[in-house]
Amino acid sequence: MNSRKPFIAGNWKMYKTCSEAVETAGKLVKLLSQTSDVDIMIAPAYIALAQVHEAVKGSCVMLGAQNLFWEKKGAYTGEISPEMIVSAGCTYIIIGHSERRQYFGETNETVNKKIKAAISYNLKPVFCIGESEKEREANDTFNVLDKQVKIGLEGLSQDNMQNVTLAYEPVWAIGTGKTASSEQAQEVHLFLRNLIEKLFGENIAESIRILYGGSVKPENIAELMTMPDVDGALVGGASLDADKFMRIVKFKTVG
Ligand code: 13P
Repeated sequence: MNSRKPFIAGNWKMYKTCSEAVETAGKLVKLLSQTSDVDIMIAPAYIALAQVHEAVKGSCVMLGAQNLFWEKKGAYTGEISPEMIVSAGCTYIIIGHSERRQYFGETNETVNKKIKAAISYNLKPVFCIGESEKEREANDTFNVLDKQVKIGLEGLSQDNMQNVTLAYEPVWAIGTGKTASSEQAQEVHLFLRNLIEKLFGENIAESIRILYGGSVKPENIAELMTMPDVDGALVGGASLDADKFMRIVKFKTVG
């Protein structure tokens, strides 16, 4: 048994108005007890962060944002700074999601800048990586991940790494209903842990949490969590429903 605390995070993507977000967060708080043996985070859209923070304050549900811009402040219309995210009550920040890479031109280099900016404001990055279907079919999965991790984490110290979570999200499994098998997830997670060991040493490799993301549901979470290197999940669609998300969080007791 390892000593890593399981971590279940919900990425709400571009879903829910402010009032819908507050309603779902309120339901979730009611369904969960005040403390949990699992770390729980939800990441609503920017616009709902401050209100959702009020709804989850004092509960075991932590708040995260889905993106940031690395500059401190300035004339960057439409962007949000790390300080603004902290001021809305966030402790976590999702960085490098494949949808941002795919639709908004994020690269390994910009992801690296974002991770560094997040860390300098004590935000905890949930750093997303993953291969496309084409890359998997071309047997390129490990090369792609190697590059994403090495560039994404370039220049970070061991100390910085203590606040980083990795999220392995194979692009072909996101929103498709096609979950990676638990063996496929384990194979990649072990590869990632070994890579982290090479880059940052044994202690960081042993303590870093590696989440799996891609069509996680109440029905498949328990099986995924039996894998020794799967420390939790980054959940999209199934996190939008408080009851479903609660069943994922309580994977040990609820079927
Ligand atoms: P789904 O759970 O909807 O497949 O989304 C996964 C994801 O992208 C989480 O960040």
